[in-house]
Amino acid sequence: MCNQKEAPLRIKIGMAHVVTVLAFTGLTGTARAADNVRIGLMLPYSGTFADLGKNITNGFKLAIAEKGGKIAGRDVEFVTLDDESDPAKANENANKLIKRDKVDVLVGTVHSGVALTMARVARSAGIPMIIPNAGADELTGALCAPNIFRTSFSNWQAGYGVGALMAQKHKSAVALAWKYAAGDEQTAGFKEAFEKGGGKVLKHLTLPFPNTEFQPLLTEIASIKPEAAYTFVAGAAQVKLAKDYHAAGLRSRIPLYGAFITEGTLQAQGESAQGLLTVLHYADGLETPRNKSFIESYKKAYGGATPDVFAVQGYDAAQLYLVGLEAVEGDTSKRKEMLKAMENAKLDSPRGPLSFSKSHNPVQDMYIREARGNQNVMVGVAVKQLVDPSPECKMQ
Ligand code: PHB
Repeated sequence: MCNQKEAPLRIKIGMAHVVTVLAFTGLTGTARAADNVRIGLMLPYSGTFADLGKNITNGFKLAIAEKGGKIAGRDVEFVTLDDESDPAKANENANKLIKRDKVDVLVGTVHSGVALTMARVARSAGIPMIIPNAGADELTGALCAPNIFRTSFSNWQAGYGVGALMAQKHKSAVALAWKYAAGDEQTAGFKEAFEKGGGKVLKHLTLPFPNTEFQPLLTEIASIKPEAAYTFVAGAAQVKLAKDYHAAGLRSRIPLYGAFITEGTLQAQGESAQGLLTVLHYADGLETPRNKSFIESYKKAYGGATPDVFAVQGYDAAQLYLVGLEAVEGDTSKRKEMLKAMENAKLDSPRGPLSFSKSHNPVQDMYIREARGNQNVMVGVAVKQLVDPSPECKMQ
């Protein structure tokens, strides 16, 4: 059993590049080339965040493929693992990748609760970790460490951007969010900016992750009659929320806002999302040569699929690792030097120039976007170069 081989999948990802991928089989692999760079992708490949996991993976692999499928001259092996967005399995899964599969870097994940456990494991193992989505504030707060980086956002940052926009337009709002770290923290960031701008949050309604029984909460919003509503639910659930909100006749009376509510799902949301305003650190309608070439390259590699913020975050996770490993000419044993290079990285991201705060969280513009057709079109900037102050981060 334990000597059974993992079958390498040959995946073509455009530009005639072929990347060798080791599918995770749950078995101990044998005969791995010792000189390959081993990348552990611990992401959701099932459940409500499955598309996010897929797009992060696509973005990550695209950046490597653009480098000829190698990092600093070394071949790359991917070990992928479906974390099922289940915090209860996170400790065992992260340990599998680090101790058994001996990955050189841990990349993951989407769900804040899973990522918090991964970061604890990565901290004690000292293995580099790059977070391509999960926003948990603690990851670049109390849990910050020289080996932990994030290429996405902190939950505070995502909520704060939306609150800044809503304060320009409304005086009162109700929040509706999943009850877990991402929902609680994004709502807190939203409330901070909204109230700083003179608004008042009348109520914070919650439902358990990944529940989508929105109806009773929508009835409550209708009876409170705020000027606007803020929401954080994500992945497949945001399609249902936009549709339910529209069907309840609330859209015209109480405009709905959020960071992610239209991201990657406009086609499935159809009419229900048209015109929604969101604030996020990427807009697919960003008219820069860098973003245009990224979109073109992604489409070519993945059969015409359009990238979203998750693909960008995955792409930048790979760009960041490339900077680190190239600085040490592929020698992963020079960890300190490698982490230093990552800390000082200035990435040419599709979202715009990307650098990192002292806590290793992105410093980035928060764009105002309007859903038009299948695009989140950039219509302004809510906050320029937003830095999460990360007061809890004490980098050793
Ligand atoms: C999170 O759990 O941190 C999370 C998940 C999905 C998102 C954003 C944040 O779209």
